[in-house]
Amino acid sequence: MRKRDPADEHETPVRTHGGAPLHAPPADAGEAYRLAYAAAQPDAGRRVVAIALEASEFDWNVAPGVTFQAWGFNGQVPGPTLEAEVGDVLEIRLTNRLPEPTVVHWHGLRIPPAMDGTEMVQRPIAPGDTFTYRFRLPDAGTFWYHSHFNETVQLERGLYGALVVRSAEEPTFDHERVLVVDDVELARDGKVKPPGGWIESHDGREGSTRLVNGKQEPELTMAAGQIERWRIINAASARYLRLSIGGSPFRIVGTDGGLIGAPVPATEILLAPADRVELAVGPFAEGEIHRVETLPFNRGSFKAHRKPELFATLRVGPQAPSKARIPETLRRIEPLVTGPVEANREVRLGFTLGLKHGVEFTVNKEQHHRADPVRVGELQVWDVVNRSPVHHPFHLHGFFFQVLQVNGKPPGFLSWEDTINVAAFGSVRIAWMPDDRPGEWMYHCHILEHHAAGMMAHFAVLR
Ligand code: C2O
Ligand code: CU
Repeated sequence: MRKRDPADEHETPVRTHGGAPLHAPPADAGEAYRLAYAAAQPDAGRRVVAIALEASEFDWNVAPGVTFQAWGFNGQVPGPTLEAEVGDVLEIRLTNRLPEPTVVHWHGLRIPPAMDGTEMVQRPIAPGDTFTYRFRLPDAGTFWYHSHFNETVQLERGLYGALVVRSAEEPTFDHERVLVVDDVELARDGKVKPPGGWIESHDGREGSTRLVNGKQEPELTMAAGQIERWRIINAASARYLRLSIGGSPFRIVGTDGGLIGAPVPATEILLAPADRVELAVGPFAEGEIHRVETLPFNRGSFKAHRKPELFATLRVGPQAPSKARIPETLRRIEPLVTGPVEANREVRLGFTLGLKHGVEFTVNKEQHHRADPVRVGELQVWDVVNRSPVHHPFHLHGFFFQVLQVNGKPPGFLSWEDTINVAAFGSVRIAWMPDDRPGEWMYHCHILEHHAAGMMAHFAVLR
């Protein structure tokens, strides 16, 4: 690794909000961290899964002859897939070997705020330092971890990975795979193109090198006659995946917050940035070849998508026996709301054209909005309203919500989510329950450039 003075390139952004640092941990953050650390104990019969992660710079090969200077965990992109069970404690010792600070967020996990991995709850981990995250895993599902610092650079260069949590009762599949989807924009010098430009700050970056598990348009093979569980994570900065497997039918079995009530047949599914989905894929016949691709999708960006774009090719090999059992009832999800309900808050996503910084993205007309607190045990019904001509994936940290309405209509099925797309000039009504994890939380648009340009809010959960 080249030696550099980190101060040359990036400075820790400290913007202020009426004199107070905009993103800074509260004075009692150290104490909250120690309490959360000590409280993280595995359930009876479960264990502590201890993992060392090192964030560093290395050369990463995506295709024959195509290598870029990546930033990643443990020398790979994506970082290692972390696997554990509900009731386990995950203990991650993270060492920062990058030339700049970092923090790591555990996307989708209902953990104490002190372990959430943002600048609101901890000081960034300086180059050379180690920080240990420790928390109990309360839910089964497909989650991910990623840098939550200078994201348009750090996440884009590869600082992300998958986290799979299993429960004692899972449907039986013949095989399972985790597919982390991303796109990067590589410059000629083998580096990831630095962020920039007016269009990119408006649209978010969509890279032309399309990756699945860190490889460019790889080939996947599966056996004929079998049914696989595909856990798919959209780790891209801004790209929406309107995912199709050559148009062939599959079944949706899970979303952000784990299994849904019953399998839902589909031939395509939309994954906004940060969305996850679990699919039952197959059975296919030997010799079939399918394009795992994204179909054209208009999210209001300047850059239009008129053709499907390939992410991977699926080849079906010789027949193998199947032991897959996917029950008609996967799980019981209790609705948070039954019958009519009024929203008790409106979250307005908007943008303005600033003179100084180009596009400014806002929540309730404010960049880096300070939102009202919520109280533990008080049901939240929020209308997330998009006042802009582009789509925004709304992400709430630390809590799952249920979607009550999308543009005024109930969604196709009940699920637990932490990320939901809010269409251009559209709206989504969500319900969520603040459980007893008081502290500082946030929500934001998961298009990294929009988040960076101010489309985020922080708020307190109070007892
Ligand atoms: Cu995956 Cu604050 O984000
Ligand atoms: Cu956005």
